[in-house]
Amino acid sequence: MEYFKLANGAEIPAVGYGTYLATEGKGSDTVLEALYAGYRYIDTARFYKNEDEIGEALKKSGIKREDIFLCSKVWRTDLGAEKTRASFEASCKSLGTDYLDMLLIHWPKASQQGDWITPVRESWKVMEELCCEGRIKTIGVSNFLPHHLRPLLETAKIRPAVDQLELHVGYMQEYALAYLKEEGILPQAWSPLGRARLLGDERIAGLAQKYAKTPAQVLLRYLVQRGIPVIPKASTAERMRENADIFGFELTEDEMSFLSCFAQTGWSGEHPDIV
Ligand SMILES: NC(=O)c1ccc[n+]([C@@H]2O[C@H](COP(=O)([O-])OP(=O)(O)OC[C@H]3O[C@@H](n4cnc5c(N)ncnc54)[C@H](OP(=O)(O)O)[C@@H]3O)[C@@H](O)[C@H]2O)c1
Repeated sequence: MEYFKLANGAEIPAVGYGTYLATEGKGSDTVLEALYAGYRYIDTARFYKNEDEIGEALKKSGIKREDIFLCSKVWRTDLGAEKTRASFEASCKSLGTDYLDMLLIHWPKASQQGDWITPVRESWKVMEELCCEGRIKTIGVSNFLPHHLRPLLETAKIRPAVDQLELHVGYMQEYALAYLKEEGILPQAWSPLGRARLLGDERIAGLAQKYAKTPAQVLLRYLVQRGIPVIPKASTAERMRENADIFGFELTEDEMSFLSCFAQTGWSGEHPDIV
């Protein structure tokens, strides 16, 4: 497994396991399968309502806590000091741990109207305190665009190390990526396969054929080669292994350029300002 270095010195696996909808009807089995397939980064959120199952899978796996990178997120309705601390404690309790490797603010806004930054700043202050108490190693955000990050950076004592964004071929949010680079914040890609909407694309299939890889591997390789960690979700052991096996080939500069200028495709339709 390869790792990316964060501005705070911590390391984050280049490929993690995304768990949104991964436990539906399957309890802890799918997450356990992902751990057996070699995943050591688990991405969850209070909103996914699967932290109990993940905690169970971690316990069953017998893998040492320090060998796992656990990331959870604070939901929109839990923004604000008290609710954020309670959300963090509830995540830890469900996951069976007393610390998190990373905690993210899931979305910047709880509603379209009114003052959104005050509750974000309050949450951030609590997350900073939890860092100082040694309960969280890295704090970051998700779905924050430059106009959400700027006012947070004005008051933050600890800078966000990661911004988890929807990023995939056909939706690369280049303006946000350029800003994150300037600010030394690592982007991380959610829905790196465009929720499977990109897997049937003939242009991706052509590249997959050239490298004797699958379309999913080409899509994930593109992101990792751009320095962006990915967290694909898959339900079978075969797909999990396939998604983690993206280090034995390299796309050419021309192919990277080609994949970078696809017209917008596969977008989820979720915009952080339209909640
Ligand atoms: N921060 C946020 O706001 C946010 C939002 C959305 C998601 N996320 C995180 O990002 C993770 C990934 O995003 P996502 O689940 O929306 O989408 P995704 O990973 O882009 O795509 C998942 C879909 O692709 C299919 N798939 C996976 N690997 C495949 C392969 N090798 N071949 C063929 N099909 C394959 C899966 O099918 P099967 O499951 O049937 O195998 C599933 O339908 C989530 O689980 C979550 O942890 C974060």
